[in-house]
Amino acid sequence: MFGFKALFAISALISVNALTSTLQQITANFGSNPNNVQMYLYKPTALATPTPLIVAMHYCTGTAQAYFQGTNLAQLADQHGFMVIYPNAPRSGGCWDVNTNATLTHNGGSDSLGIANVVRYAIANWGVDASRVFATGTSSGAMMTNVLMGAYPDIFAAGSLYSGVPYGCFEGPNAWNSQCAEGQLIQTPQQWGDLARSGYPGYTGTRPKVQFWHGTVDTTLYPQNFWEEIKQWTNVFGVSQTPTSNVTNDPQAGYSRASFGPNVQAILAQGVGHTVPEHETDTLNWFGLSALTPGGGTGSTTTTIIGTTPGTTSTAPTSTAPSGATAPHWGQCGGIGWTGSTVCVAPYTCKVSNAYYSQCL
Ligand SMILES: *[C@@H]1O[C@H](CO)[C@@H](O)[C@H](O)[C@H]1NC(C)=O
Ligand SMILES: *[C@@H]1O[C@H](CO)[C@@H](O)[C@H](O)[C@H]1NC(C)=O
Repeated sequence: MFGFKALFAISALISVNALTSTLQQITANFGSNPNNVQMYLYKPTALATPTPLIVAMHYCTGTAQAYFQGTNLAQLADQHGFMVIYPNAPRSGGCWDVNTNATLTHNGGSDSLGIANVVRYAIANWGVDASRVFATGTSSGAMMTNVLMGAYPDIFAAGSLYSGVPYGCFEGPNAWNSQCAEGQLIQTPQQWGDLARSGYPGYTGTRPKVQFWHGTVDTTLYPQNFWEEIKQWTNVFGVSQTPTSNVTNDPQAGYSRASFGPNVQAILAQGVGHTVPEHETDTLNWFGLSALTPGGGTGSTTTTIIGTTPGTTSTAPTSTAPSGATAPHWGQCGGIGWTGSTVCVAPYTCKVSNAYYSQCL
């Protein structure tokens, strides 16, 4: 059965004392939730209007609370004004259902339907911007992100997943699929694309853009899954499997960021096992939220392409922070297009996350 080895993705213990709000369980009846997935909301005191939403899904053995504490999405929500929903996997072992036909199918039931319905509720009742709903997750949560990309492409604008497998790769009667996990489920791009499209038969609308991260020495979900994900999402977007760009040492030494046009990005981390640490500010860039500010700023709604894509021009986020003042803890302090302060409030220092984003850490 499922080895619990190294499924913890917490890269740093982050103090949550400085948050403007707290994690609250969602008690509203938000619609059909067959497995009674518990939902937790982080809603900062200052929101952007309309408000983007990120669904953040934990790894096996994890919890909503652990993912809230182990990532800095909540701090970034304070800074940018988006909401975060942390679902909690409804079974012992703490893994998501990523294998049943129900969870893989649009409005088919199981965990994915509960998540889809809480998002629908948030859009209808909490001012969430229906065009800016995103999913991210680690390990089992990464697999679940791909499930949502396939089954609910109408709800999600983008996904960013750390150390997962393609949509449908775990399909079958058992919660753990060794063939897929060990990278032995090899399919053609057409087969993988067809599988993703089967999540919502007949859907012809816009597809969520997908960014995935994987380590080259992952022995829980073998790195072959990275290459199978490339096949899947390039087929879904009808683009070549040859990267349009591949930037080495991005966002850090040993990582490479391969783009396949604006909608598929595959980041390979040399020498990294299971799981690739969260790169939250990078994920926010992928979601186009880096320039978002609380209180009515619309932020960047254009696609921000990180790295260089031949033949295209990257659109730098428009940054509106006041210059002169020092940037706060967690605040942006640099990057392409940034016109605000490059000096952090003491005792924090400005650290480069990538070309588009430096942060006071
Ligand atoms: C779910 O089951 C239906 C009916 O057997 C099938 O047509 C569909 O392809 C399945 N979905 C997935 C994602 O495998
Ligand atoms: C990108 O380049 C790196 C370094 O050469 C390489 O290891 C990686 O496989 C490339 N990525 C893709 C998707 O081809």
